[in-house]
Formats: sequence, C-alpha cells, structure tokens
Amino acid sequence: MDCFRIQGGRPLAGTVTASGSKNAALPLLAASLLLEGPTRFRRLPDLQDIRTMLELLQGLGARLSREDGGGGELEAASAAMGGDGGLEVTCPAAGPTDAPYEIVRRMRASVAVLGPLLARRGRARVSLPGGCVIGVRPIDLHLKGLAALGATIQVRHGVVEAEAPRGGLVGGQVYLASRWGSTVLGTANVMMAATLARGRSVIDAAAQEPEIQALGEFLNRCGARIRGAGGPRIEIEGVEELHGDEVEIPADRIETGTLLLAAAATRGEVRVEGCIPRELAVLIDLFERSEVPCERGPDWLQVSPWQRRPRALDVTTRPYPGFPTDLQAQWLAFCTLCEGLALVSDTVYPDRFMHVAELNRLGAAIRREGGLAMIVGPTPLSGAPVLASDLRASAALVIAGLAASGETVVRRVYHLDRGYERLEAKIGALGGLVRRELDEDGA
Ligand code: EPZ
Repeated sequence: MDCFRIQGGRPLAGTVTASGSKNAALPLLAASLLLEGPTRFRRLPDLQDIRTMLELLQGLGARLSREDGGGGELEAASAAMGGDGGLEVTCPAAGPTDAPYEIVRRMRASVAVLGPLLARRGRARVSLPGGCVIGVRPIDLHLKGLAALGATIQVRHGVVEAEAPRGGLVGGQVYLASRWGSTVLGTANVMMAATLARGRSVIDAAAQEPEIQALGEFLNRCGARIRGAGGPRIEIEGVEELHGDEVEIPADRIETGTLLLAAAATRGEVRVEGCIPRELAVLIDLFERSEVPCERGPDWLQVSPWQRRPRALDVTTRPYPGFPTDLQAQWLAFCTLCEGLALVSDTVYPDRFMHVAELNRLGAAIRREGGLAMIVGPTPLSGAPVLASDLRASAALVIAGLAASGETVVRRVYHLDRGYERLEAKIGALGGLVRRELDEDGA
C-alpha cells in the first residue's frame, strides 16, 4: 500500500499535458465487444481502472496486442499499458458472457459490458455493482433501457442475468432520467446495445456528458447509425454488424480541472496542454468570477497567480454542462483558501463528502448537512497525515496538502491510482514536492 508524502506551501509552476480520459476510455473499451475485428486504442491512460477493464475483456475472450509488440498476444492486461498507449483489442463474436463479481466489485464501470454482450452474444451475466463510499449507485435505469430493447432481465443472488430475444434485440424507446438528471454509463449501455438491435431506438433524457458524444462518434465510425449522442435525445438505427476502427482517447476533463485547481490553490502558474477547454467552461467561469486569472487556447488552459485572494463561490453539482460532481471535492479543497463563505452541494451523490473530515484535519472549516457542505475561508492549512477514501477525495487531499504549510501524508493512494496517471510525476514536474512511499500502516 502506498502513500504520498507532500511538502506543501510551494506554488506550482510549469506546463503539463493532460492524459486520456478514464471515463471516456472505459465505455470505449467495452464497445470493442460489439465489433468484428481489431480496434486500436491510442492515448489510453495507464490507470488501475483501465487495467481492470482490460482484465475483464480478456476474461470475455478479448485478445490484446501492443502496436509495437510485434503483434504477439499479451498475456496480462498490465503488459498492455505504458508506451504511447497504442493497444489493439479484438473481441470474437462468440465467447464467455459472465462478468464476475470479483472484477465488478472493484470497478462499477464493469457494468458497461452488459449492453455490448447482450447485443453481440445474446446474453450476459453481470454481478450487480455494490455501492461505494460516494453513494448507492444503482443500475435500475440500465436494466430499464435494455428491457426496452426486448431483453429479459432477472436479478438473482446479486447477479443480473440478461437474455436477448431469439432473433436478437429489437429497437425500442426509453426515458432514462434519474432523480438528478440521467445516467452516464446507463446511456452508454443502452446506446451500445441499440446499435445492433433490429430497427430504431430512441433514448430520451440521455446523459449529455462528452464521454457519450465520444462513444457515439466512435461507434458511427465503426458503422453504427447514431444521431444526437451528447444531446438529450439519441436516435439509433440498428445495423447487422460493426467493424473495428481506431480511436484516440480524448483528454481527461476531470484531471485537467484537478490540475488547474491545484495551481489556483497554491497560487501558482500552470498551463495544462492537450486538453479540451470547452468541456471545462463551468470551471473557467468560476475562476473568472472568483478572480483567479485563467487563459484559454484551442487546446490548453492556464491558471496564473491571483493578485487578490479569490472569493469563495457556491457550487451545486449538475449533469454536464453543469459543475461536475467529479470536481466537487477538489473545489472544496480550493475553497479553503478563498475569502468568505461557500455552500457546496452535491445533487448527484449527496454522500460524496468523505473528504470533509480529512480537510478539516488539515485546518479547514467545513460543516456538513446532508448533501450540502458549508465552508468558511480562508483558513491556514497545516500539514498532517490524512486518509484517502475514494478517487476524487484523494485528489482533494493532495491539493490541500500542496497548499498546506509543512508535511502532509496522504494514505491509501491506491484510490488515486484508479483515475490519475502518474499524478506525483506531473506535480513534481510543476515543482510540487510529492514523494510516493510504501506505507505499511496505511491499511
Ligand atoms: C459516471 O458514473 C462516472 N464514471 C462517474 O465518475 C461520475 O461521477 C458519474 O458518471 C456522474 O457524472 C464513469 O464514467 C466510469 P451515473 P456512472 O449512472 O455512469 C443515479 C469518477 O470519479 N442512477 O451517471 O456510474 C445514481 O444514483 C467517477 O471518475 C440511478 O438512479 O454514474 C447517481 O445519483 C465516480 N439509476 C446518478 O444517477 C441508474 O441506473 C449518477 O449515476 C444509474 C444511475
């Protein structure tokens, strides 16, 4: 088990490049189950969740090979990572249809193989993902959508057993709104399944996250007939077969936002290159309103040292293009050094505040009531040992540790390794003092 040992109080400065997006890569990898022939992935981020997805695909019969590996099949998913992220994935039409609990419990996004397995192989057995510290995380809308395509769904002993009609899935219409907006992976699951269903499908109240748009564009390059991916209504004309293609994973908007908030929290000057500024319009607007200098180019964003202490601003998380729940913890960490009171509410995951107690250990003044956190700043942060609890909470603790005076030890950084590629190296390249160490006591 590793920890990060951070010496805080130094402004970050320099240029860093965004990695490929975890949340775009996972459904794109699952989509390879739909495709005849190989798909070549570029800019795959080297993350634990990506390795888990590759392991799951291998268990479902996928063959992996590296572009520069002479074409030989890779035994272990871990061998697939690294390098320029060029990886070839080939999924046969026939093969296993079980996604085992052992993998699904590690990563909820495993559920994204449900739709492709049903569509291409006619059946699927996927363990129900458990909840996690950020919330209950049901998949009722995924199942509702697949049932609308004619699938028979049973849930027994914690396993979803889904069966397509004898002639295959049939086009259908489904309204996918959840109480907060829509479901990202649920939209991906239903859209993927509908590409091979007979006839026309419509998804109303679809998730509009950029990751859905990227998935729809890729599937259309593979021969699908999808209209409206990235908007609230998606129309899909089913086709007989889809072929593999090549895809470059788009930049990770949450990693980019995390690095920019780390820069603002340390009053530094950081440029993130290779990112997609339009996907972070909500954060750019917040920086402007709180008077943190932020410039943007076609594929870069730059935060510069603020002259006057930024004003604390209220934030409520919303579906895209609203403020993303995946930046809520990082925004809260930034607010510790802002002037005034801010209310931060998470309408998507009301329980996603495990980072509050740990930020308060560093000196923050945050109080919580249900899905709402109230923070009064600025509060001088002083380093201390803290415990990471989930992916984005870990990032918030790193940000706070970089802003705090003295030493902060963030334990259980395996949470961080799920979604941030070489974060300590990137922060180090920006002048931050972060050292990864073995931590026997972190358990
Ligand atoms: C995706 O998860 C992201 N993960 C999450 O990022 C992100 O927080 C979330 O979308 C919201 O933006 C990936 O893309 C791999 P949801 P997903 O289905 O699709 C309710 C990170 O940190 N809901 O959109 O699993 C649910 O309770 C991760 O990178 C239902 O009610 O999230 C929640 O309130 C964490 N029924 C909301 O919708 C369903 O069937 C969001 O869930 C499905 C969801």
